[in-house]
Amino acid sequence: MSYDQIYRRSLDDPEGFWAEAAAAIDWDRKWDMVLDASRPPFYRWFRGGRLNTCHNALDRHVHAGRGDQPAIIYDSPVTDTTRTLSYATVLDQVSRFAGGLRDLGVRTGDRVVIYMPMIPEALVAMLACARLGAVHSVVFGGFAAKELAARIEDARPTVIVAASCGIEAGRVIPYMPLLNGALDLCSHQPRHCVILQRPQAEAPLAEGRDRDWQEVARADPVGCVPVEATDPLYILYTSGTTGQPKGVVRDHGGHAVALAWSMRNIYDVKPGEVFWTASDVGWVVGHSYIVYGPLLNGSTTVVYEGKPVGTPDAGAFWRVVAEHDVRTLFTAPTAFRAIRKEDPDAKLLARYDLGRFRALFLAGERCDPETLGWAERVLDVPVIDHWWQTETGWAIAANCLGLGALPVKPGSPTKPAPGYDVQVLDEDGKNAAPGAIGNIAIKLPLPPGTLATLWQNDDRFEASYLARYPGYYLTGDAGYLDEDGYVFVMSRIDDVINVAGHRLSTGAMEEVLAGHPDVAECAVFGVNDPLKGQVPLGVVVLKAGVERDEAAIETELVQRVREAIGPVAAFRLAKVVKRLPKTRSGKILRGTMQKIADGQPYVAPATIDDATVLPEIETALASLTRSGR
Ligand code: COA
Ligand code: AMP
Repeated sequence: MSYDQIYRRSLDDPEGFWAEAAAAIDWDRKWDMVLDASRPPFYRWFRGGRLNTCHNALDRHVHAGRGDQPAIIYDSPVTDTTRTLSYATVLDQVSRFAGGLRDLGVRTGDRVVIYMPMIPEALVAMLACARLGAVHSVVFGGFAAKELAARIEDARPTVIVAASCGIEAGRVIPYMPLLNGALDLCSHQPRHCVILQRPQAEAPLAEGRDRDWQEVARADPVGCVPVEATDPLYILYTSGTTGQPKGVVRDHGGHAVALAWSMRNIYDVKPGEVFWTASDVGWVVGHSYIVYGPLLNGSTTVVYEGKPVGTPDAGAFWRVVAEHDVRTLFTAPTAFRAIRKEDPDAKLLARYDLGRFRALFLAGERCDPETLGWAERVLDVPVIDHWWQTETGWAIAANCLGLGALPVKPGSPTKPAPGYDVQVLDEDGKNAAPGAIGNIAIKLPLPPGTLATLWQNDDRFEASYLARYPGYYLTGDAGYLDEDGYVFVMSRIDDVINVAGHRLSTGAMEEVLAGHPDVAECAVFGVNDPLKGQVPLGVVVLKAGVERDEAAIETELVQRVREAIGPVAAFRLAKVVKRLPKTRSGKILRGTMQKIADGQPYVAPATIDDATVLPEIETALASLTRSGR
């Protein structure tokens, strides 16, 4: 069957389609209903089914004879380590760590926050939670204590699992001060913290509260706890339009089915093959395609602790692919921009044999056609841009290699993946004509594996995603469908920006700037960056009477964002201005300032209150461009 036929069937007969896909998963009890549509706009997949995700990711492969096959290849240039863990070894470690968590009081449905760098133990902790039916919530290491605190406060974990440190570009980053700093800000306290001591920076443990990973991991192994298909597997927080992150909830059944399906049909990866996602377990890409997707599929996953460049050089990715026989690589375009910048002629590639490498997948941000073209040229394999979000957990639009590749149109992640009825709607909710930009929405129900709701916040889930167009999920992206049905994703319609493939909220940064005692008002927006795609830029107006040195205030603002949100915000551009451009109704014209900062032509909007402010802004931002960008 062709892509078109399969896609059509997925929309015409979703229950038949996904019931067939569900055969790839072991169920403890078959579902009563493939799709429970009794409570729209909330839809649930495989209602009544029972399963365990960890069993599907580990135990069944060992039972099927894959025990000796590598499950995880840990490659860490920053610690000069390579380690291979077989399926049997990972199963043993996960079963014991699950036993240890249970001894610490973790029960089915309890939350466990995981704050760890890219080491195999992060996966062990996640899978141990899945084994118990506990709900993990992984927090990315580049976030500051305050962001970690917001997640702990919302998820209310019984236990927090952390490492003593991460290693970033040659720097050791102790995690304990961040964890303790976060807990100082929280009213909720976990019963225990389990700390993996890394030799680069051992952490002092708090008596009573903290346990050493090695002790916990020595517990007797425990079996899998079957849970409802609709029970939560994890919460993953992502940036929304305010400083309060959104807790995306993923269930067990739909998630396992969708990810297993995607491994074969989108990525075309077979059991036993090596699939490498160069991202971080703290992001959705890491959850789905470092951990669950490859393991549900019986493939081998690579856990890479390092950067694409500088560790030791821009040939790092080629080495990993060649050394570990990686067949398919998935990363963000920014990684390829970084490699191209260092090694534009890909001279380092010639050192390695990539003869068995089959495909490169890119996602996380818009893939510029130059980067796509460069990757295609130097690698000579299909390079596939695909589009998805934390909320969906897997691709909304892709060139499904397993279904037969479609022609590539640079700038487009190709066509909607089966299960997604993607439509472009205008302001009135009518379908936009081909080529016309509008809001990209997905007709409900969303397919299995997508978000069930926001953690303990159905109202915010409805208000954020479902209220704008009844019967549709609002992606938050604007774009168009062309006459061939290809999807083009052009920009966000909210304040989310994408910095080096990391999703951040400019609203959250504005909250931090506004908290500075000298700041009267402020605006943060994303501006183009040749490496990271976008970087945030903040402009502030000082309170009347503030006489302090403006440069000193700008430095403080940069420091504040780093401390409140984290280094990952990459907030380095702050400028004091006399006034901000606004509409007559008082709305700050961020879009106009963004155009000015990017050096694009602009016209003062008809609604502007006073157009004479724009030349002032232009001069101020030009000085920032000269000094910092
Ligand atoms: N823990 C602590 N700090 C972290 C961190 C982590 N896990 N991840 C990033 N940071 C820090 C970085 O060290 C940097 O700090 P600095 O301001 O002191 O230099 C800051 O956060 C910004 O990080 P980043 O935006 O990643 O910039 P970079 O210059 O370090 O690296 C790339 C740029 C392109 C090489 C890097 O972003 C990359 O490899 N991206 C790959 C794509 C990816 O993983 N995307 C995720 C979604 S698919
Ligand atoms: P995240 O939730 O961090 O995965 O970020 C999701 C957002 O990143 C999407 O809503 C898009 O704005 C953007 N994005 C991800 N992949 C792509 C892509 N292939 N093309 C364009 N934008 C993308």
